[in-house]
Amino acid sequence: MTAENLIALAKEAMQKAYAPYSGYKVGAALLCADGTVYQGCNIENAAFGPTNCAERTAIFKAVYDGHRDFTAIAVCGGKDGVITGSFPPCGVCRQVMREFCEDDFIIYMIDADVGYKTCTLADLLPYSFSPKNIG
Ligand code: THU
Repeated sequence: MTAENLIALAKEAMQKAYAPYSGYKVGAALLCADGTVYQGCNIENAAFGPTNCAERTAIFKAVYDGHRDFTAIAVCGGKDGVITGSFPPCGVCRQVMREFCEDDFIIYMIDADVGYKTCTLADLLPYSFSPKNIG
């Protein structure tokens, strides 16, 4: 699975977004260590708080299916599904990544149709609180 393939799957997932309130459609594609890919989209809620981000949708789907070992995630988003710049994972999603992923977990932030930034979980969540802190 190349970065480009994972990115294409995140863009595909974005089309499934349920975002009637913000209009921002977000897609994610999560690569498991065994090569399986899980796609996720944001799922909004009239009460706002229960909204689930695309990254967490993908991670929770994977964990439910028994996967806990992840290599990379590609993320994209934009108003009405139009990508105009990168859509970095929110703090809650970064913490959920921390639960299952090591420092070298890769995040591809899709900038536009042809570009993306590559960073690691250590870049996005330094000095983090992890399962290692509680034993
Ligand atoms: N959103 C995500 O899906 N992932 C993030 O990491 C940031 C925010 C969604 C939540 C909401 O539906 C919309 O983007 C606007 O905040």
